[in-house]
Amino acid sequence: MASQEEIFKKLIAHCKEYGFVFPSSEIYDGLAAVYDYGQNGVELKNNIKSYWWGAMTMLHDNVAGIDSAIFMHPNTWKASGHVDAFNDPLIDNRDSKKRYRADVLIEEAMAKFDEKIAKEVDKASKRFGESFDRELYIKTNPRVVEYAQKRDALHERFASAMNNNNLEELKRIIIDYEVVCPISGTKNWTDVRQFNLMFSTEIGSVADGATKIYLRPETAQGIFVNFLNVQKTGRMKIPFGIAQIGKAFRNEIVARQFIFRMREFEQMEMQFFVRPGEEMQWFEYWKEFRMKWHKALGLGDHKYRFHDHDKLAHYANAATDIEFEMPFGFKEVEGIHSRTDFDLSQHEQHSGKNIKYFDPELNESYVPYVVETSIGVDRMFLSIMAASYEEQPLEGGDSRVVLHLPPILAPNKVAILPLLKKDGLPEKAKEVMHLLKFDFKTIYDEKDSIGKRYRRQDAIGTPFCITIDHQTLEDRTVTIRHRDTMEQSRVPIADLHGIIDQKVNPKSVFKKLM
Ligand code: GAP
Repeated sequence: MASQEEIFKKLIAHCKEYGFVFPSSEIYDGLAAVYDYGQNGVELKNNIKSYWWGAMTMLHDNVAGIDSAIFMHPNTWKASGHVDAFNDPLIDNRDSKKRYRADVLIEEAMAKFDEKIAKEVDKASKRFGESFDRELYIKTNPRVVEYAQKRDALHERFASAMNNNNLEELKRIIIDYEVVCPISGTKNWTDVRQFNLMFSTEIGSVADGATKIYLRPETAQGIFVNFLNVQKTGRMKIPFGIAQIGKAFRNEIVARQFIFRMREFEQMEMQFFVRPGEEMQWFEYWKEFRMKWHKALGLGDHKYRFHDHDKLAHYANAATDIEFEMPFGFKEVEGIHSRTDFDLSQHEQHSGKNIKYFDPELNESYVPYVVETSIGVDRMFLSIMAASYEEQPLEGGDSRVVLHLPPILAPNKVAILPLLKKDGLPEKAKEVMHLLKFDFKTIYDEKDSIGKRYRRQDAIGTPFCITIDHQTLEDRTVTIRHRDTMEQSRVPIADLHGIIDQKVNPKSVFKKLM
């Protein structure tokens, strides 16, 4: 069986071969951690965004959308804390000259203990067979207990070093746990330094006195600075939310794992403004709603888990991640944060403007508290591709690569395939296409054998293939083939709309959320 690493490599190759994701400026050998979305990728991405936008702004009539600019006044980032504190701890290996994030190296060292535990448990489970009590074994086996204790001790040291911003201690941990550079294999490390992740550029010509500005590292600040604009013009009453989808930029040091960690990426963020003291109940609400949103796609409930933050940002009073089981382990896809009144208060202070809300029910003014939901479009894209990709053996020794994409997200909903390129079949096929294309993204293909054409559609996750043959000309029926089961049935053209709509209309999934 192929390892997870091999499957991940194949998935990356598949994304390129089938027009989902290309390395950016590839003809110049690419640009690290920057990617372009191809003809199928952009459709999938747009469908993810519209699923999110619908769930947030249509299903919640107290959530309004905005689209704020990427460039913002430089004081925004001073107020938000990004200029002073949006840093990653960096360390270089003197022999390989490679740069790493010190926290990532330590997290990997921690994961090695978990791998050792998993190996022991696996071995024991094979040895004891059905009588194996996993929980008991983990609690009592001396070797497993020792690994767990070592992992917990490392975790405690690491969390304390991160919380106290103690860079010397981070380096000491790397030395004590004998972390080696994966390239040179040596422990010849530099000191740990802080590195700001924001990209900067200049606005205005130099002669005019150019000003340094930043490419936004999160979309959230565009929401905060528009809080009163939306509240007043939309006559919004607290609690209410503002949602936004847009690009964000971070000069990530460790550019790895394909589109998981990018330098230019897209976020879908929502800030929910609440009365002070009511933030925990809304934190729970959004935690549950966001998890439901993920699970409603049907990729498998076991692939998601919450991970509460060990290190809370100084302004947060609760934070959790929704993690997804990627081919390289459970990883953060979305964050849900209770950010108190930190951001609005900071903007009030730095701008000198009053950003308070007058609550007519309480007859008092206050700076609202905020619960944020923040998800990366690209990470969501990766999680969906990873969960959908299958190399499926078929009867007779044949096989196919199929993307079991949730139908509401699939780039193309239906493929129209005339059996032959003659006898009036292409003309009839185009007629059928014309009937469907106003409601569904439809693709036409008349090249190669029908088997090959089915495989091509499986590989891009098209839920339905419709074949037009000679019988169609006689009785206005077609063959409809279902992607996942490969089942085929003969149906009247008049029924096609209903059959397709039932599966691909986002309404069916939205209903599960209410
Ligand atoms: N406003 C809060 C915020 O930006 P974050 O945890 O830094 O929080 C939120 O980012 C989400 O944005 C993450 O859960 C992830 O999905 C996505 N994200 C962050 N950095 C990313 C990167 N370098 N590449 C791709 N996605 C990223």
